[in-house]
Amino acid sequence: MSKEIDRIAEMIVSSKRVVVLTGAGISTESGIPDFRGPQGLWKRVDPKIGTIEFFREHPDEFWRFQLDRLKEMMKAQPNRAHYALAELEKMGKLSAIITQNVDSLHFKAGSKNVIEIHGNLRTAKCIECGKVISIEEALKIIEEGVFPPKCRTCGGLLKTGSVLFNEPIPEEALTRAYMESEMCDLMMAIGTSLQVYPAAYLPVIAKRKGAKFIIINMEPTPLDEIADIVVHGKAGDILTAVVEKVKEKLGVKGS
Ligand code: APR
Repeated sequence: MSKEIDRIAEMIVSSKRVVVLTGAGISTESGIPDFRGPQGLWKRVDPKIGTIEFFREHPDEFWRFQLDRLKEMMKAQPNRAHYALAELEKMGKLSAIITQNVDSLHFKAGSKNVIEIHGNLRTAKCIECGKVISIEEALKIIEEGVFPPKCRTCGGLLKTGSVLFNEPIPEEALTRAYMESEMCDLMMAIGTSLQVYPAAYLPVIAKRKGAKFIIINMEPTPLDEIADIVVHGKAGDILTAVVEKVKEKLGVKGS
């Protein structure tokens, strides 16, 4: 493993523009289950609950499911993997994180340039008038006895700020994600099964533009065969070791 850690650190040090794509696997060490891993959410809940159609037909059941996830996320703290990426950014060796996660843990760890291509759970949005409010405001509406929560302005249904299946990806986030993937010379996919599009397409774009591609994941992914390096293991362990090695190579003191 130390050979791979050294090779990854070498690639990061010699790259001009490193971009990371993260998925739910980077947050499992913070106590948030992923979707398709051995204890994945979709192993015990039908994924249809995450579709926009299900939300429209059963908004109450949708919100009951979301409230459980919200409670988990609001108390979750970043883990070593999130902090390692924030440190890389501080050292000027990571230009952007593109995340599929809606848990805000990259921001909580101090990362600045984070592109949330699946939205986030910090907000809620009215599906009629488009008004966006904080998730705390939506929880207050629920506490006042309005369930599923409705917009105070027009009475329309509120949905969480996360992007549901069969919903479009936020235009601005997707444009930035494509741009970063085209401009990077190193793309690292961390804690993602690379099975959901368009996220899983981003490393292909990077590779096509001549970037190196590294996968750090517990399990194999469909893109393993196009990666330059694949390391199967825990993101927290691997990224912590990689950042230590990068600091050594850059002659950066302390943590
Ligand atoms: N370290 C490294 N990899 C891990 C860890 C860990 N500590 N824990 C889990 N993994 C791996 C799992 O083996 C799995 O391959 O992370 C991957 C997570 O994959 P998914 O659960 O499919 O999550 P993700 O790729 O983010 O899913 C993409 O699907 O359901 C939708 O919108 C949802 O954003 C999500 C999208």
